[in-house]
Amino acid sequence: MILIIDFGSQYNQLIARRVREGHVYCQIETPSISAAQIKALSPEGIILSGGPASIYQKGSPRVAPGIFDLGIPVLGICYGMQYMVDTLGGKVSRAQKREYGFAKLRIKEAAGIFDGIEKETRCWMSHGDHIQRIPRGFRITASTPNTRVAAIENTKKSFYGLQFHPEVAHTPKGKRMLKNFLLKICGCGKSWTMKSFIRHSVNETKSLVGDKGVILGLSGGVDSSVAALLLHRAIGKQLTCIFVDNGLLRQGEAEQVKRLFKKHFKVNLKFISAKKVFLDRLRGVGDPEKKRKIIGHAFIEAFEREARKLQGVKFLAQGTLYPDVIESRSAFGGPSAVIKSHHNVGGLPRKMKLKLVEPLKHLFKDEVRLLGKELGLSEELIWRQPFPGPGLAIRIISDVTQARLSLLRKVDAILLEEIKAAGFYKKLWQSFAVLLPLKSVGIMGDQRTYENIVAIRAVTSLDAMTADWARLPHALLGKISNRIINEVRGVNRVAYDISSKPPSTIEWE
Ligand code: XMP
Repeated sequence: MILIIDFGSQYNQLIARRVREGHVYCQIETPSISAAQIKALSPEGIILSGGPASIYQKGSPRVAPGIFDLGIPVLGICYGMQYMVDTLGGKVSRAQKREYGFAKLRIKEAAGIFDGIEKETRCWMSHGDHIQRIPRGFRITASTPNTRVAAIENTKKSFYGLQFHPEVAHTPKGKRMLKNFLLKICGCGKSWTMKSFIRHSVNETKSLVGDKGVILGLSGGVDSSVAALLLHRAIGKQLTCIFVDNGLLRQGEAEQVKRLFKKHFKVNLKFISAKKVFLDRLRGVGDPEKKRKIIGHAFIEAFEREARKLQGVKFLAQGTLYPDVIESRSAFGGPSAVIKSHHNVGGLPRKMKLKLVEPLKHLFKDEVRLLGKELGLSEELIWRQPFPGPGLAIRIISDVTQARLSLLRKVDAILLEEIKAAGFYKKLWQSFAVLLPLKSVGIMGDQRTYENIVAIRAVTSLDAMTADWARLPHALLGKISNRIINEVRGVNRVAYDISSKPPSTIEWE
């Protein structure tokens, strides 16, 4: 395994992605990790990430200096390199010319980290400090027009430093450089595969859980589905999945979950039909936040009631992913445990004295998809777009009624069918319909109509923090609109939402 020390770079997750793409397992830790802890992890190599600080500033992040005495190869990137230089007796100072963006990299020798790379290539720079003097035992291995010390090495100790960022796509040979470090310098094997992960995870879960019971809130989304199958593989019937049908789901969704998990995978699934409770409590409520709270509370109640019926349950499983774990710690403090409150079960572990099991907490989203595939999940489920916990309730811009839900479900089904048929489903972060609290005049046949308006929302995004409205082809939008108005009674107008986030949000409520 490779240990990545996170000095706060915006690219640190990218470093981890690159390492894992090379089939080498890696873990990101904060600089507060001690040399003894590092030794206990016995990594084959250490990567020191970049970061926003200047090494000569007071309070700049540092790792226990003992890491350079462990006999483990170290690669420092940007700040990580400057930290290494500073610690080992060199000198770092503010550069006269800052360097951001592409730079021409001139490599002295196609060896070591640059093995197999031509002598002139491009690299991506982002730094305001530079190395004035390299430590004893090092030599300069590459330069750019503005940065004399763009790369250094001490082959005797297997210490390497790169001033630029090999992990970003803008450094075209960056992947090769990282691969050289991992495979040639650290001697890592390519052992990180989903098969090996499953083996490891199954053993780990077995020894953690023993003969106790585990409950998991299944939502039908990718993360909870993959977590359920992985745990099922490890502990079989000791796992009980609880699915709460709140009546706010899309067409056929609840039945699909039941069919897939209960019938196909033979998972112990408690299917709670709680439609009436949710709908009763939502009656007459138009305020979005009130809707969310009502739905959240009703979910916890239903989940808890079911969980209490089970004997010997000591664990609550959640589909927390690695980015959530990393983001919850700061580069300057120690790691802290995260309890993700998704599926609204955040309060449960404490209340019911349950311990958490998070079998996906070391994985990135694309790895979860690969894992799902390995565990036999269909492409359709693996690539399912995110769906909010409060479901269709926050896509009905007024109070929720059975009639409105039924109308929106039909509209949504047509929309998704067309989006999928046109090959856009996977390319979009989300695509859905919203029922507006407005009516408009239309004409159908020779009759005047006065009916509902629906809006179509389709966005592209990487992480839902920002999103852009999707430039769907006019022909596709036309077809969607035609079908909705022709096939769904009660709708006579379709609008397309052309706002981005920010300043709008993805959902309308
Ligand atoms: P917004 O509307 O804030 O949505 O741009 C960002 C992402 O979060 C989802 N979303 C929710 N998910 N409970 C959830 O589980 C919620 O209350 C909720 N509200 C929004 C939304 O679908 C989008 O992916």
